[in-house]
Amino acid sequence: MSEKKKLFIKTYGCQMNVYDSERMGETLGAEGYVTTEKVEEADMILLNTCHIREKAAEKIYSELGRFRPLKDAKPDLKIGVAGCVAQAEGAEIIARQPMVDLVVGPQSYHRLPELEKKARAGEKALDTDFPEEDKFDHLKARPKAKRGPTAFLTVQEGCDKFCAFCVVPYTRGAEVSRPASRVMGEAHDLVERGVREITLLGQNVNAYNGHEAGLAGLIRDLAAIDGLERIRFTTSHPNDMDDALIAAHGEVEKLMPYLHLPVQSGSDRILKAMNRKHTAEQYIRLIERIRDARPDLLLSGDFIVGFPGETDQDFEDTLGLIETVGYGQAYSFKYSSRPGTPAAEKPEVAEDLKDSRLQRLQALLRDQQRAAQDAMVGRKVKVLLEKSGRLEGQMVGKSEYLHAVHMQAEGLSRGDIAEVRVVSSNSNSLTGEICAD
Ligand code: SAH
Ligand code: SF4
Ligand code: F3S
Repeated sequence: MSEKKKLFIKTYGCQMNVYDSERMGETLGAEGYVTTEKVEEADMILLNTCHIREKAAEKIYSELGRFRPLKDAKPDLKIGVAGCVAQAEGAEIIARQPMVDLVVGPQSYHRLPELEKKARAGEKALDTDFPEEDKFDHLKARPKAKRGPTAFLTVQEGCDKFCAFCVVPYTRGAEVSRPASRVMGEAHDLVERGVREITLLGQNVNAYNGHEAGLAGLIRDLAAIDGLERIRFTTSHPNDMDDALIAAHGEVEKLMPYLHLPVQSGSDRILKAMNRKHTAEQYIRLIERIRDARPDLLLSGDFIVGFPGETDQDFEDTLGLIETVGYGQAYSFKYSSRPGTPAAEKPEVAEDLKDSRLQRLQALLRDQQRAAQDAMVGRKVKVLLEKSGRLEGQMVGKSEYLHAVHMQAEGLSRGDIAEVRVVSSNSNSLTGEICAD
């Protein structure tokens, strides 16, 4: 038998790309590839890319340039671009960087085997269709090998929301949900392979409609799987946070008390211009209702500063919303103009203003994050052990609230859930002690 070819995959962007990279690796695995961590020994390099902000997209071209010496040394090396830049730019990628052999969008990567053959035959291989067929029905079955205790599972893709700044509806297409029966099948397989925590993924995961009772229905069915201990989901849109899902947060024990619910801005004027279709007040009321159902919920969010037309007052309103809500975790970005989106037509806020606003916003969010983490000291948490720590006998895992927790864990192993008392709060993690009782 000939020696296996080596595949190097580098992933940018969101968790959905992480999931897709896994599936692409498995699909090419069935074609005789094994994945490698070492780019120098690769027979194929695949960049799974993100188009969300200009910096993320431009980085791909400098990265590709770095592969030049590898390609010169090994002419058989094939270079592919997958993901959202592939979808957005298609053949332009090859025009700009002729070294690229293969371009595949996020909805057509089940066709990788044919594309790989075409590239091996010396042709340029391009597929950025939104095909009729469901890629998940055409992907190779997932392997049965043991794996780590946490996994992502994509249940919904695409977005119909068309926020004025965002490329996702164009790169990922319309909202589609995978049927609940398929999701359940994949979840059972993951649990058999050692997974104890599943994070359900979707660009708008709470718009999931592959189950008659929506995402809440799917979560309740998943919670009945023996051996699956924890369920999370991300990312959600405030307008799709229905009563059933709120109730699930109060009732389903396996659903973790952590919610990523981006609001982007605290100014009604800007929310309107962003096409978010809700007000700041509606968001705040929604958070109150979710916290009524699950009082210890740790809330996470996304914010954009310097959206076109954002005034000092609009920005103050965003700071005000953050003060009112209180976030345990958050991601914040300077607005980046994206070609083809409605906001790209509008005059931009000056760069130095965007910078100073981002700094103020991040300082506030950092304080809140720190306070939420410090407030865990003295509390008992359950930690899903994920890997060994740096010290002998030490392990690291995540609490229910997604805080990283370090502890001495003699006798315990990866995948165990330890009851831990938090003893100190460090810059980016907690330290705990296993509870004796
Ligand atoms: N579907 C998710 C997140 C999509 S992208 C949602 O609706 O919340 C992740 C985050 O990137 C967004 O929440 C937003 O804060 C940020 N983002 C998207 N487009 C951006 C742009 N053009 N400039 C800056 N940040 C952007
Ligand atoms: Fe982008 Fe808005 Fe859709 Fe989120 S909801 S993916 S921010 S268009
Ligand atoms: Fe980026 Fe595409 Fe995800 S643009 S954030 S990789 S959906």
